[in-house]
Amino acid sequence: MAGSNPNAKPMNLTLKVWRQPNRQTEGQIVDYKVNDISPDMSFLEMLDVLNEDLLRKGQDPVAFDHDCREGICGSCDLFINGRSHGPEKGTTTCQLHMRKFSDGDTITIEPWRANAFPVNKDLSVDRSAFDRIIQAGGYVSVNTGGTPDGNEIPIPKEISDRAFEAATCIGCGACVAACKNASAMLFVSAKVSQLALLPQGQVERETRVENMVAQMDIEGFGACTNIGSCAAECPVGISLENIAILNREFLTAKATSNHLA
Ligand code: FES
Repeated sequence: MAGSNPNAKPMNLTLKVWRQPNRQTEGQIVDYKVNDISPDMSFLEMLDVLNEDLLRKGQDPVAFDHDCREGICGSCDLFINGRSHGPEKGTTTCQLHMRKFSDGDTITIEPWRANAFPVNKDLSVDRSAFDRIIQAGGYVSVNTGGTPDGNEIPIPKEISDRAFEAATCIGCGACVAACKNASAMLFVSAKVSQLALLPQGQVERETRVENMVAQMDIEGFGACTNIGSCAAECPVGISLENIAILNREFLTAKATSNHLA
């Protein structure tokens, strides 16, 4: 298990950080030096050190998103050295440790790049497009009554495992940032699969997939061209199988719907 190493040497780093005052103003990369960075720090703690130094100098700290810092909420959306969440597979930015870098390294830090995720400021982007896709259908709204007893609705283990795997999507947007088309197919497919696989999701199954895909297109996300970088960079390992499920769900819904577009 990786833990604190008392012999780990502090590192001096050069950071190339995207600075952009607001959505309307052009941004640029600005160079900063950070010194005496412990290899046991998380990446976000390293940015905290940078910001404390900037504040001491009376300068504007770097804006970046974070919340749980435990790999759960999906807020920490940083593009590090050209990769969503940086160099360690299956890891969010907040769970990335500085021991993955070396003394003297230059690290480039950018926001997610996608038209559907406009920059708020610096490294913080507006991911409300994902919220609107969920609002379009990523829920179960049928009246299910009171809380059912456990195991009242039998679900085969293989199906529940696949639904659970899809449900682990934290909605961070790494898939969009990693895709050359800025496609949101992996995100949408995880949300559609999760509900389409379970009995509770059957009532709205067809309208859900139609509405969520329509909203995805309205938001301006790109098309999927089967590159697979989304799944390769996903910090929680959402698989491409979900995109196959989404395509099947969408075609089935369109073939059977009364409102063919
Ligand atoms: S801050 Fe919540 S997942 Fe990184």
